[in-house]
Amino acid sequence: MESKQWKRKQPKWLDNAIFYEIYPQSFKDSNGDGIGDFQGIIEKLDYIRTLGCNAIWMNPCFVSPFGDAGYDVADYYTAAPRYGTNEDLKQLFDEVHKRGMHILLDLVPGHTSVEHPWFLESMKAEKNTYSDRYVWTDSIWEEPQGMGCIRGISDRDGSCAVNFFSHQPALNYGYYKIDRSWQQSPEDEGPQATLEELENIMRFWLRLGADGFRVDMAGSLVKNDEDSKGTIKLWQKVRAFLDEEFPDAAMVSEWGEPDKSLQGGFHMDFLLHFGPSHYNDLFRCEEPYFSSRGKGNITQFVEKYLENYEKSERKGLICIPSGNHDMDRLARTLSQQEMKIAFAFLLSMPGAPFIYYGDEIGMRYVENLTSVEGGYNRTGSRSPMQWDDTENAGFSTAPEERLYIKQDASADRPTVAAQMADKDSLWHTVNQLITLRLVNRALSNCGEIEFLQVGYPLVYRRWLNSQSITVIINPAVSAACVEGIPGRILYNVGGSATLAGGQCRVDGMSAVFIEDEE
Ligand code: NOJ
Repeated sequence: MESKQWKRKQPKWLDNAIFYEIYPQSFKDSNGDGIGDFQGIIEKLDYIRTLGCNAIWMNPCFVSPFGDAGYDVADYYTAAPRYGTNEDLKQLFDEVHKRGMHILLDLVPGHTSVEHPWFLESMKAEKNTYSDRYVWTDSIWEEPQGMGCIRGISDRDGSCAVNFFSHQPALNYGYYKIDRSWQQSPEDEGPQATLEELENIMRFWLRLGADGFRVDMAGSLVKNDEDSKGTIKLWQKVRAFLDEEFPDAAMVSEWGEPDKSLQGGFHMDFLLHFGPSHYNDLFRCEEPYFSSRGKGNITQFVEKYLENYEKSERKGLICIPSGNHDMDRLARTLSQQEMKIAFAFLLSMPGAPFIYYGDEIGMRYVENLTSVEGGYNRTGSRSPMQWDDTENAGFSTAPEERLYIKQDASADRPTVAAQMADKDSLWHTVNQLITLRLVNRALSNCGEIEFLQVGYPLVYRRWLNSQSITVIINPAVSAACVEGIPGRILYNVGGSATLAGGQCRVDGMSAVFIEDEE
């Protein structure tokens, strides 16, 4: 069987990378202050390896007032003291590498905190090095169109565009289409200096041992850029810089439009809970496809997926995450059994899988929490990891009221220890699915895909070189029959499956992997 040649050179390790997202505040607290830290993560690296993941994406860990959980950076070059020092972070890189793993930092290029010294300088009335670092209009009475702004707090006569929350001023990478005198071109001195500084930041952490970056809001850096041409061009410059100095650094974008981001030189792009991908139809809507009620609809997701797959011409990886710190937990809509089938899908699709910490045990969304650090409705998905049945589920020795976010208080909250001790648990299913993916090339990140049946069940074939595997995903309660699949069953999840004379019968709420006969 033919597999198309991989068109973009990507770091070799991405062929088999399976990522684990760590929200550092909530993973493991080593010093009893109620907040997770680098040493805590180091303690748990063997756990991540045992689960089977071989790569990590860690959310922002830099100096910040934490008005947006660290996505409001006040110093790009220094680790936030609550997590440890730059030395600790270097130690984390080294420990990750010792285990044959890789780690991506979270790069926030679009905005800083209002407390960043660049912003404080840029607010001054006198022109200085940082005057053009952010997007400013030339009068307090003029607002940047289509964006919120900060106004009335500076001596400078102007309004500053914001990128997300109103305490996150937008860094200036220029305007693609200029229609106001104060707008600058990406080639102007100010935007060029911002880009240069961005490369300095990347260089600093890559030299210290980071393996690459997840890039926050990567698709919106150049403003007034309807088709993203300006932003794509900007990332192509970054790609040239990386190719030259750090060819093994991996880049994944929060963009959600792989045809654009991969053109910009990213190796991977995420499907997101917003934007055009229909990702939400799978797990997070009124009738998710993976609910056993069987009332969901996966058609538009598959259509959009194939459109992206073709448009991106295999220039890189389309990544489907189990969740992240911005979305509801899978367990808010799916039961443990349903999540097993969801993971059979997530861990058998092309692209690098990303598992959000705690999803491997089906951690729940904690309802009715007051917002913590700009989390708002996202706070319930950011509660501290549940390791075992000791104090604070083994997350921290701090008094309960000092924990970063309240934990799931239910008596039956899932824990790693309990699930590792139970062979039938979600944890074991995830672990086995990861092993299956790693030993079968056809299931790897770069393997091809073809959908054979879309609906209940969903049937697709994955292949690479001479291996071909058919995957049948049947989340609904009724059994299903699929014809024309000669081969042997490699693995099944949920109920049982039988294969005879090319006909496969799968129980409801099950998934089966069949290695095709050559
Ligand atoms: C996306 C991040 O994932 C989210 O957590 C953050 O609030 C916004 N970008 C702003 O940086």
